[in-house]
Amino acid sequence: MTNQPIRIAVVGLGWMGQAHSRSYRRIPMLWNERSYEPVLAVCADNMEDRREAAVNDFGFEEAVPDWRSIMDRDDIDVVVCTAPNMLHEDICVAAAQTGKHVFCEKPVGGMPDQTVRVEKACRDAGVVTGVGYNYRFAPLVQYLKGLIDAGELGEITNYRGRFFSMYGSDPMGLLSWRFKVDQSGYGVSTDILSHSMDMAHMLVGPMKRVIGLQKTFITDRPLPREGGTHYDRGQPGDPTGPVTNEDYFAAMVEFENGAVGAFETSRSIIGPESQNAFDIYGTRGAANWNLETMNEMGLFMVGDTETNSARPRGYTTVRAGDRYPQHGAFVPGDANSIGFEDLVAIEDYHFLTAVAEGGRHSASFAEAVDFVSVQQALITSTETGTWQDVVSLRID
Ligand SMILES: NC(=O)c1ccc[n+]([C@@H]2O[C@H](COP(=O)([O-])OP(=O)(O)OC[C@H]3O[C@@H](n4cnc5c(N)ncnc54)[C@H](O)[C@@H]3O)[C@@H](O)[C@H]2O)c1
Repeated sequence: MTNQPIRIAVVGLGWMGQAHSRSYRRIPMLWNERSYEPVLAVCADNMEDRREAAVNDFGFEEAVPDWRSIMDRDDIDVVVCTAPNMLHEDICVAAAQTGKHVFCEKPVGGMPDQTVRVEKACRDAGVVTGVGYNYRFAPLVQYLKGLIDAGELGEITNYRGRFFSMYGSDPMGLLSWRFKVDQSGYGVSTDILSHSMDMAHMLVGPMKRVIGLQKTFITDRPLPREGGTHYDRGQPGDPTGPVTNEDYFAAMVEFENGAVGAFETSRSIIGPESQNAFDIYGTRGAANWNLETMNEMGLFMVGDTETNSARPRGYTTVRAGDRYPQHGAFVPGDANSIGFEDLVAIEDYHFLTAVAEGGRHSASFAEAVDFVSVQQALITSTETGTWQDVVSLRID
């Protein structure tokens, strides 16, 4: 049987647009059992050198400056939105309303009300949706989810999530779109707390009530250059502009199942480089994982140490390998490592499988709304200084 082509349009060929485009190209070489063939049909980017790279380096059939020109075409099956956050709503809604399946990088819009409107438009259009919560797909994290769902860790009592990154820790770091509320929406809560809380949603479940704290440590930054990213640097004396969203967000939460949790995220911290990490504790075991060392996980299982004091007790370092979900698509054996873009490839493989087979992808825009519902409660709590119940923002 011939696999059906899935014709893909990527909007925004920056960091994540490039990562997803490489992944679509790799899928045939990684998953022989797929039911489709990804086709890089068109890339939209407002920068000429990105458009040239799209065609010459990535193998897109064509590249266009205006994403709107893609929407009326009937030869596109999937729109992938990897543009800055404040463009997500217009791009995703236009794609859904013209019958295209939509994958959008997290968090689907910069503000909670945008995410909610996008989810409703896509639900009404009946298209498959996916949001870029790629860290879910780390093979050891998926393995841990299986252990938790099977009750191997007992009842989950508490969870510590953190995402500490140094991408904004240098005051000479440019004022890219991420530091502006009109282009990014909220700051670190939108950018990386979303990842940390999505992981907790997946592993522990929905949150019932929350209280938050936020702060901006670096209030002015050198103005950006065209095409610059949040990793580029200016010089002392360069013209500067104000940072208009938060550098730091902390939260305490109570989950609906009675577990409790604490979260901290910062983009301007010194030390942790990309520490998207969690510790999870249950009545019969515990685990910890950190993106910086994503090919290992700490696992403590009470097991028979309870009744047999001769058995060794403590955290075991579990090394990733082909016995864990999807790891073997990349490399065989135990303790041979995979990396960040491999998680994106797994995510894209699952999303396109849902498109080809008419299924549901997780995380979908429904899960994106779950996060922004928590985020909205947190923002309110920072204004009032009080605990807030999480109320779903979903529009029925
Ligand atoms: N899942 C993850 O791990 C992860 C990591 C980084 C970024 N992200 C998300 O990915 C999205 C993009 O972030 P990034 O870091 O790749 O940004 P980036 O700045 O590297 O890339 C953005 C791209 O969009 C293009 N663009 C800007 N305006 C456009 C327009 N009007 N039409 C077409 N293209 C336009 C830019 O030229 C650039 O090529 C954001 O939503 C971000 O939150 C997710």
